[in-house]
This record gives sequence, C-alpha cells and structure tokens, in this order.
Amino acid sequence: MSKIIVLVGSPRKGGNTEMLAKAFADGAGQHHDVELVSVADCRIHPCLGCNRCYSGEGHQCVQQDDMTAIYRKFMEADTVVIASPVYFYGVSAQLKALIDRLHTPLRNKFRIKRLGLILVGAAALPDLFDPILLQYRMILRFFRLEDIGTVLVSGSKEKGDVLQGDGISRAYELGSSLANAERKEISIRRLSADEIPAALDLAWRTFSEYESPDYAPEGTEEFRKCLQDEAYLSGIEYFGAFDGEKLVGEIGIRPDRMHICFFFVDGRYHRRGIGTQLFRFLRGVYPDRTITLNSSPYGLPFYQALGFIPTETEKSINGIRFTPMKYSGGDDKQ
Ligand SMILES: Cc1cc2nc3c(=O)[nH]c(=O)nc-3n(C[C@H](O)[C@H](O)[C@H](O)COP(=O)(O)O)c2cc1C
Repeated sequence: MSKIIVLVGSPRKGGNTEMLAKAFADGAGQHHDVELVSVADCRIHPCLGCNRCYSGEGHQCVQQDDMTAIYRKFMEADTVVIASPVYFYGVSAQLKALIDRLHTPLRNKFRIKRLGLILVGAAALPDLFDPILLQYRMILRFFRLEDIGTVLVSGSKEKGDVLQGDGISRAYELGSSLANAERKEISIRRLSADEIPAALDLAWRTFSEYESPDYAPEGTEEFRKCLQDEAYLSGIEYFGAFDGEKLVGEIGIRPDRMHICFFFVDGRYHRRGIGTQLFRFLRGVYPDRTITLNSSPYGLPFYQALGFIPTETEKSINGIRFTPMKYSGGDDKQ
C-alpha cells in the first residue's frame, strides 16, 4: 500500500474537479491510502521570491501557513495527483501558489516518485490542455517523476457536466490501474480492439469446459455462432483481467443496455476472486447502474453471491439454457 495525495485545485465545492478527483480516489483507494486535499481550503500564500528558504535555518519559509502541512505530506507520499479546472489555459491560482512554493530545498526530502494529472475545462478546443501539459511534462522532468497518466475532460462548464461523458470512468480507471500496477497480481483494464479475439477465444474455451456440458449440442453450436456473428458482437465493450500479459478473465458488456453478454474466468484461475474483481471494476466504471445478464446454470450461484437476483425462471432458446438476472446495487466490497 502506498500513500497517494490528490490535490484538488478548484474552489468550487462539489464541482467537476472534485468529482473527477473522487472517482480517481475510489479506483486507487481499493489498495492504497488516498488523501484528497482541497487546496482552496488551505491558506497558502504565493511565493515571495526572497530565496530565504535557501539560506535560512532548516530551509524554513518566511511565511508560516498551511504549506508546512503540505511539505510534510509530500515527505510521506509516494504519488501526487494534481486535479485542476482550466483557468485561462493554466491551473487554478490556488494550485499555482502551492506549486511555486515547491521552490525550496525542502523538496530534497520529498518521497514522491510518481505524478498524475486530472484536468477539466469548459471549452471543446483540441489544444485546450496543451499549456498545462507542457508545464506538467517539465515538472515531471525537473523532479524526475514517473508519469502515472492524465485524465483530460473538455466541454464541462457547469457543476456536474463532467457526469455526462466518460471522464468519471476514465478517472476511476486511472486510479484503479495504479492499484493494479502496484499489486503486481491480477490487473484489470479495458481491452483494446486488437485484444478482442483473445477475449472471444477465452470465452469459447471456458464455455466449452464448464458450461457446454449443461447444454444440448444445439446450444453449444448457438454459442459458437454468436462468437462469430459480427452483428451480435458489435457495440460490446470488454474488460479483461490479466496475470502479467496473460488474459485470464473478461466481462463483455453492452453499455447502451447495461447488459453483460460475456463473463468468463479461465478455469485455472477460478476461486481466486477474479470474477468479483472484474465485476467490481465494472461497477466502478458504471456506478449506480442496474446491470442485467442471462446466467448459465453453471454461473447461477456465482452471480447470486455477487448480488444478482433472478428476474424470471430459467428459459431455453435454441438449446441455450439461461436465467435472466438483475443487479441493482448492494455492497460487494467484502
Ligand atoms: C476564472 C475561470 C477561468 C476559466 N478559464 C477557462 C479556460 O481558459 N478554458 C476553459 O475551457 N474553461 C475555463 N473555465 C471554466 C472551468 O474550467 C470549468 O467551468 C470547469 O468545469 C470548472 O471546474 P470545477 O467545477 O471543478 O470548478 C474557467 C472558469 C473560471 C471560473
């Protein structure tokens, strides 16, 4: 477990920056100690440029304010994430004041190894974030920090606008990827288009081993046809669980209907909580949504344990036996 500080740079309470920062913290907080710091609530004066911190006793700043606590946090944290609204193509003044106060030899005592960036702005300009990104890259280089990634959300002006796009899920995923990367165990992420054939292959292998025995040959054939049916497959979004480079589990969901089409974990990885982790990840990407699926007879106890409830009795269509189920919330964070 490492210590992550998220500097929330907007003075607007409950605004877009704060929502993104919280989504990031939800993702990272599963395995790390994450602290959100509202910079606007701190009393941090701008740097006076006197350079007394270079010559003075203990490199103390002549200004005694909340920066003292921030220095202490930076001495304990491994990772810092800067979250800011775009204010005139830069970060907010509150954050800029904090950043300028890092011009002190005290920074040699910082433990920070990694930096991340979350930005939100109202305009939809393609180069909206360029000035801040340039500054971000220079700071990474100056402090020799590893870049954990960025979440850039444009077109969000009013409070809550950020909920309309995929910004919240991207922030959650960035946090979650950090957790997974550190654990060096099973990592979970969204699959790219060129990884989908491997996901379909895993679906077929796992289906054949565990589910097909409960079906008539007609049902097995129907499932095989689905895996080759471009019209059926189009629009499905995939999330994969990886052991190193190896895909060992997957969820395929239709986001327009929030319906899970595929949910498989490689048999050699059963009973390791990978299915639960995958589902938890999905719920992080799509919080507070009702999710449906059609369970095979084999999958029924697992889905019930996750909190799904049957909405109808078992059906059989083209040899495929399934029970329609629904998940409407609940706490699976045991
Ligand atoms: C002082 C100020 C300056 C701003 N400058 C920009 C800007 O240069 N470009 C932009 O796209 N949005 C700009 N905005 C809009 C904010 O970035 C946008 O409303 C953002 O969602 C605010 O985030 P918040 O809800 O966390 O406060 C500005 C807003 C304020 C208050």
